[in-house]
Amino acid sequence: MAKTIGIVTSGGDAPGMNAAIRAVTRIGHAKGFQVIGFERGWDGLLTNTFKKLTPRSVGGIIQLGGTILHTLRCPVFEEEGGVEKAAETLSINNVDNLVVIGGDGSFRGALDLSRESDALMIGIPATIDNDVYGTDETIGFDTAVNTAVGSIDKIRDTAISHERIFIVEVMGRKRGFLALEVGICVGAEVILIPENPMNLADIVKLMEENAKKGKRAGIIVAAEGFGNTSKIAQEMQRQTESEIRLSILGYAQRGGSPTARSRLLASLFAEKAVDLICQEQGNMTVGLQNGAIAGVELEKSAKNRKPLDLRLLKVAEMLAT
Ligand code: F6P
Repeated sequence: MAKTIGIVTSGGDAPGMNAAIRAVTRIGHAKGFQVIGFERGWDGLLTNTFKKLTPRSVGGIIQLGGTILHTLRCPVFEEEGGVEKAAETLSINNVDNLVVIGGDGSFRGALDLSRESDALMIGIPATIDNDVYGTDETIGFDTAVNTAVGSIDKIRDTAISHERIFIVEVMGRKRGFLALEVGICVGAEVILIPENPMNLADIVKLMEENAKKGKRAGIIVAAEGFGNTSKIAQEMQRQTESEIRLSILGYAQRGGSPTARSRLLASLFAEKAVDLICQEQGNMTVGLQNGAIAGVELEKSAKNRKPLDLRLLKVAEMLAT
């Protein structure tokens, strides 16, 4: 009987998840596997809700944002008996391999499940936060960067017209990867990330120095994890003559058609995932490391903190002079 690959998309959705579902399905079928997709994240394993995936059923989705399997944020495995129930679902459906498409939170769930189930767990990192250990880039990150850059370029037009300073809040959960790359790409005057605490006086001083240099308008890109941007904007307004405005980009960063790069990453990660399955190398995630697609221990992806290169902040400061 053909072996079965299960797929689950879990946690915050990311543009490119559908490209990954498509690639796992088509490459899995090409290698002789049956493929099923569990609905609504881990909940699908609790309720045994899934659909058969065939090369035809994943046609026309590579360009779609979101996930055709839907997703949920639910600490399902913290519930009593959750892991056991999920393991039982895999067993009764003869799922020998489970591909988990998501972020580090999803990989922690996969790690818990691996202790209860014989199915091989393979993680594919997909989150706009790019905060997963073991990969230089996650599926969806490039799309979110481009979405944010497009929006902030528009904000800069009106900032210049009115000679205003805009604080633009981007996503990224508790990390600054998204804010840092977006900040460099929009030529932000200041980039605020959790990994580099700054006090308000320093921020105001920077903007006033810019004003003396004739830069009366400015863009401050702030990671949501840096702090309460509404309070920061109010406090800045009290301390400076410049007009301060706040713009929170929000959920637009999570949607949209995935960029070519997000689609390519999704396809190559999926190929590696199925290759690991064929080699019966389970409890691994796939990752991009210095341009090469590699396998990473699931436990490390789930638990280790990804380092952020603060040198890039120095580059950004020099570029903003
Ligand atoms: O993890 C992706 C992400 O978009 C984070 O950047 C953000 O903080 C979070 O999800 C929002 O979570 P939710 O979609 O549950 O509101």
